[in-house]
Amino acid sequence: MDNSKTIVTHEKVESNNKSGINYTTVVEQFGCQLIDNELISKVKQVVKKDTLHPVLENNIFFAHRDFDALMDKCLHEKKNNFYIYTGRGPSSTNLHLGHMIPFMTAKYLQDIFDVPVVIQITDDEKYYQTNSNIPFEQYRQYAFENIKDIIACGFNPKKTYIFLNSIQNTHFSHNSVKIQKRIKLQHFKNTFGFTDDDNIGKVSFPSYQMAPSFASSFPILLHPPTDDNPQLDSFYNPISSFFGQIINPDAHKEYLKQLSNMKCLIIAAVDQDPYFRTLRDIAPKINEPKPIVIYSRFIGSLQGKDKKMSASVNNSSIFLTDTSKQVKKKINGAFSGGQETLELHRQLGGNPDVDVATQYIEFFSGDTEMVAKVKEDFRSGQLLSGELKKKCIEIVNNILDEHRQNREKITNELISEFMSIRSLI
Ligand code: TYM
Repeated sequence: MDNSKTIVTHEKVESNNKSGINYTTVVEQFGCQLIDNELISKVKQVVKKDTLHPVLENNIFFAHRDFDALMDKCLHEKKNNFYIYTGRGPSSTNLHLGHMIPFMTAKYLQDIFDVPVVIQITDDEKYYQTNSNIPFEQYRQYAFENIKDIIACGFNPKKTYIFLNSIQNTHFSHNSVKIQKRIKLQHFKNTFGFTDDDNIGKVSFPSYQMAPSFASSFPILLHPPTDDNPQLDSFYNPISSFFGQIINPDAHKEYLKQLSNMKCLIIAAVDQDPYFRTLRDIAPKINEPKPIVIYSRFIGSLQGKDKKMSASVNNSSIFLTDTSKQVKKKINGAFSGGQETLELHRQLGGNPDVDVATQYIEFFSGDTEMVAKVKEDFRSGQLLSGELKKKCIEIVNNILDEHRQNREKITNELISEFMSIRSLI
């Protein structure tokens, strides 16, 4: 009998089992579906490839909502009429390795499907959530540094829009209004655990994370540019949009209908599900399509896979700014599935299921066969813990070196380009 207990919320991820979170339980609790081989084959058919990135092949993205239906639609229509939506809630100037997973994957999917990506930077979110006196302006500073790390993942500037809630939420405020109207406070208390002591910003915030899941939140970005489309002009300027809607309501409706054919694929770790499962219930009530989601597992903390790597938990993370020496020290000290002594390890073998370095190799090596061999050799006792950690240190440092080089090239002009409103189609 499995007695493991798993807690996954938007703020907390924990299990009482060193092998990590029980993802089967999570899928059952949340009511989403597992990504299986059949679905992976469909993705391959759509993108016409024999193999996919290990984040998909190795089931690091393990759960979904309607991703199979989206792939069927792409196959049927012979085009990929969707955009990708992901985001970051800045809580410091630094991202950790776990944050890389959704962005790395969004960039990969942008390349293979050739679709637009919108990236929300919720500089309001952690300001509401934290009980410290950090001034709001500080969150913009965090956002600025985080945006550089996100761009350094290699997104296509022609097809990617990055926006900051505190300055750019006018685009989707009409959808946030509709969402807020349909959610009862009691529902949010149950879903997010809000209490009467919480500030009201925390309570209103989720609607701002939900609204970008509708293409109608981004009329300019997700509509092909046309010189003679008056609606495009009217949407661009909120005041003329207001008049356009009143003077020509039919054209306005037609315009929205066209946009609603464009589906949204959300990419996140599974802690973000409370937002999107709530939104999927509301979508039909406001005549919007349900967003599609794929969810990843969590990269474990350095202390063990029973907790996620988290910027707010001391010593749990490898940061993108860590030097190669720091990475070496952190991984050498990480929780190991190896035996106490060399003799015992050779005799009994190690346990890759609880071993932190094995998981980092799995997430970042990009080599499915190598991961299988590492696990097998560690389990048989042939590969020692120190040897396995050495491999892991090399892989992580290579990734961080490349990332640093990309980041150094990012200028303020490039950031402005990513943040400017233009058609991504
Ligand atoms: P944030 O900033 O906490 O995290 C950014 C993204 O990283 C994922 N993540 C992880 N993935 C794997 N292993 C980990 N240890 C790990 N820790 C965090 C998160 O699931 C997230 O996808 N509210 C969001 C920001 C946001 C967002 C979105 C995320 C706004 N709109 C749309 C996804 C989709 C947040 O605070 O993420």
